[in-house]
Amino acid sequence: MPLGVFDSGMGGLTVVRALRSAFPRRDIFYVGDTARVPYGNKSAETVLGYSREIITFLEAKGVDRIVVACNTASAFAVEKLRSSVNVPLHGMIESGVAATLRVAGDGPVGVIGTSATIGSGAYEKALRQARPSLKVFGQATPLLVPLVEEGWVEGEVTEAVIRKYLESLLREKIKVLVLGCTHYPHLKGVLAKVLGPKVKLVDSSEACAESLRDSQGAKLEEGKLRIFLTDEPGPYQSRVESFLGAGVVSSIEKIRLP
Ligand code: DGL
Repeated sequence: MPLGVFDSGMGGLTVVRALRSAFPRRDIFYVGDTARVPYGNKSAETVLGYSREIITFLEAKGVDRIVVACNTASAFAVEKLRSSVNVPLHGMIESGVAATLRVAGDGPVGVIGTSATIGSGAYEKALRQARPSLKVFGQATPLLVPLVEEGWVEGEVTEAVIRKYLESLLREKIKVLVLGCTHYPHLKGVLAKVLGPKVKLVDSSEACAESLRDSQGAKLEEGKLRIFLTDEPGPYQSRVESFLGAGVVSSIEKIRLP
């Protein structure tokens, strides 16, 4: 049975890449809600509704578990929907928090994410609850998702935006930066340049795949990747290939959600 994965757009592909390296033989069905990206400036209720529709679609496709490869949807939908979904539902926050605690000491830790994720305080609360002495600073970075969706993952404009967003976190002398959005690993190069070598990056996409490795074992057969998009695939086709490699994707289809 395939593994279901979804995000608002291209961000979840960072999770797909990490999942494919953890489970190379697993079939993956990925939904990118490209007609409605971004999620990060929408209300909790709207994101919950979108997530419910995609989960219904993936369940009908026969997946045996679903990875919510979106921090925004994880913050707003995973706990609320878990009891009404027939397969295990994995969000990003829990594994991201666990990975952060492994490297953070007493911090300070910076967390970047969409306005919705940072507004929810999901990472900050979970980190402080697990380690009350930890200093945590959240920073919403809403322009980063559109930059990634446009393929602007490097260059002077992207660097200037990131530099501006990280100013206050750098003033706090953070030792660790949590990438609390699955789009952000696309920007790792620029983030590392701006932060310098002393700040560790916690990639919530890799942390999620790692946490599943424990629960999934290594049983699996030859894996295919099918991608379902809610808008025309045209502009995404080449970007998906350049990120995941040629020949990795079995099909890209446009879908209508239930
Ligand atoms: N990549 C998603 C996240 O991790 C959603 C970003 C967005 O659509 O705003 O939050």
